Amino acid sequence: MPPQAVIPKSRDLVAALTAIGARIRPETLEELPRNGLAHRHWRLRGRGLVLRVPILPGAAKALDRQATIFRRAAASGHTPALHAVLRPSRYLPAGALLVEAIGGRMPRVPEDLPALAVALAALHDLPVPRGKTPVPAIPEPFVATLTLIERNLERGAAALTSEIRQVIEGERRWAREFARENAKALRRAPRTLVVTDAHPRNFLIATDSRSGKDKAICLDLERGQYACPAIDLAHATLPTAIAWGRSGERLTSTDLRRFLDTYFRQRGPRVAQTLRPWLKPFARLIALRTTAAYAAFRASGAERVLGPEARALARKAIIHTLDAGRLAKIFAAVR
Ligand SMILES: Nc1ncnc2c1ncn2[C@@H]1O[C@H](COP(=O)(O)OP(=O)(O)O)[C@@H](O)[C@H]1O
Ligand SMILES: [Mg+2]
Repeated sequence: MPPQAVIPKSRDLVAALTAIGARIRPETLEELPRNGLAHRHWRLRGRGLVLRVPILPGAAKALDRQATIFRRAAASGHTPALHAVLRPSRYLPAGALLVEAIGGRMPRVPEDLPALAVALAALHDLPVPRGKTPVPAIPEPFVATLTLIERNLERGAAALTSEIRQVIEGERRWAREFARENAKALRRAPRTLVVTDAHPRNFLIATDSRSGKDKAICLDLERGQYACPAIDLAHATLPTAIAWGRSGERLTSTDLRRFLDTYFRQRGPRVAQTLRPWLKPFARLIALRTTAAYAAFRASGAERVLGPEARALARKAIIHTLDAGRLAKIFAAVR
């Protein structure tokens, strides 16, 4: 367990839920597989609800922000409804969210990418509020992402060989230069609500009750912010993020085209015209972001919070990515 992760006991969950008037017993709670790093989830049997409990330090401060993102994103029709907010208490120091339980399956790549494109288009089409908001509105998302990358590279330095560092350094130099040379244009690049962490495993594929068709639901809105939507399009289709999935999942240039065509069909030609020029630079930046995140993850020992299945997937993806020879090819492919 990373030293700071706070994992609640079953009696604390029952007490916190009882405090908001949900009459439940310990047997009502069923823990879901530990697929993620930032939350633990318990299904409330027979209620159609999931209790989403943040486990990382500092999460209490972020609870209102996460609740706001869930509320705003709900209008897209592609996120779980928020039923209640459990304030931080002595039972749950970071509080929790009670959200709609989504019945569905993990997306398969590339088959389900068009469904993800429809979900992202609906999220990106939501109105962007003016003025102050608890949801971060990043003045310049490219540079903000680069700052995050540099922090993670520092944290993850121990997990990197000098050969890998050299490959990464080349990408970092490119990103800095790109930011400098395009500073003005980057400030005017499209802004929408973005998921930020839009890799396929943060979605489930459910069945739409009206049409009977597949519908992608984005579960993990914790890092939602107002930024450039190219970030989500890059992360949903990034080969090294997809490698953290079923073995053998990959996408071809035709799959990528199909994903983008579906997305722009939903959002219209005006959006396509203003957003397309940003797709490549953000794809390259997000490839670097994921590499840096994997390095920081490996150095932190955070894999201990994952269940056995998710841990095996994480290890495989990270071994696949943090390899000097392969990394050079990964970056070459997004140029
Ligand atoms: N609303 C929900 N309905 C059903 N399952 C959920 C829901 N939210 C999360 N889960 C389950 O928990 C897992 C981890 O969720 P996620 O939001 O990605 O957590 P983390 O923030 O820790 O990455 C998902 O893969 C899914 O299995
Ligand atoms: Mg997640």
